[in-house]
Amino acid sequence: MVINNFSAHLPFGDNKIAPWYGKDILSVKQFSHDDLDYVFGVAHEMREMVTRIGTFDLLKGKILANLFYEPSTRTSSSFTAAMERLGGSVIPINEVKYSSVSKGESLPDTVRTLECYADVIVLRHPEIGSAALAARYARKPVINAGDGVGEHPTQALLDLFTIYEELGVGVVDGMTVTMLGDLKYGRTVHSLARLLSLYNVKINYVSPDILRLPREVYNEVAEKGVPQAEFASLADVLPETDVLYVTRVQKERFEDPEAYESVKSAYVIDCDIMQNAKEKMIVMHPLPRVGEIAIEFDDDPRAAYFRQMEYGLYVRMALLAMVLGKA
Ligand code: ASP
Ligand code: CP
Repeated sequence: MVINNFSAHLPFGDNKIAPWYGKDILSVKQFSHDDLDYVFGVAHEMREMVTRIGTFDLLKGKILANLFYEPSTRTSSSFTAAMERLGGSVIPINEVKYSSVSKGESLPDTVRTLECYADVIVLRHPEIGSAALAARYARKPVINAGDGVGEHPTQALLDLFTIYEELGVGVVDGMTVTMLGDLKYGRTVHSLARLLSLYNVKINYVSPDILRLPREVYNEVAEKGVPQAEFASLADVLPETDVLYVTRVQKERFEDPEAYESVKSAYVIDCDIMQNAKEKMIVMHPLPRVGEIAIEFDDDPRAAYFRQMEYGLYVRMALLAMVLGKA
């Protein structure tokens, strides 16, 4: 590809970009500590470029297919914005019911179709492993935008970037991260816990018993030597928490509506509760929220969840530049 003058501001001459060229992004397990530093370095540059000049032609002529079998506001629109800010364009398939999927077309055939027209496919799908399946059939890179209750790797990358930008790069080691809510079905939690296991962090999990973190994820994190502990009450761990990662109870994943009703309002963060937290800490949420964080807390400087969404734009710009960037 032709890289225009703006690329002089970006570290794209660096030979580290090449390993990501043409690659799928399916799981956070693909990322090393060095990779993360690199992604966040590029994302930081993207943030500065957007602030300075808004849109630039790094990916001019490239096309992204946004293929969403599940609802999305942030992931879908931030990938669109990322591609357009880099000068590329987007084929939006946000309502698969209006596509040939509704006629019974399979995921492999849909992906084979889209790659005739696009250079990269972003896929959200209700089944675990769907992104990996799509990648097996696609010659073009596939980016996992959430595969059922499996992973949401680009969200975890933006979550960690948020921590870097808000609290400082050097502070992740030594930090206590508390994850709250639906740890069973929350794919962002599964990806973020795995990503954090590359650091010297302590992770607390606070959830109702029926929404505990899957053992598979817990064991993977344990293998990395990261201390983890599980709690039913937030009060036990809030005072030591540096990052409180709040999640929505994932109603759509429950087979038993009564089970959902029994846990849906298990935790609500409000100003009163947050008096017991540190002054310098952040509250994150992948969003959407449906009552887990009271609106009254939004004006608290520790409420980082709206800033977190914006960081997603820069991380997704970095990832697109990396997979489409330089032959
Ligand atoms: N938006 C995130 C996801 O798609 C979190 C959520 O929906 O609660 O996984
Ligand atoms: N955080 C997130 O994935 O949001 P959407 O479901 O709106 O894409």
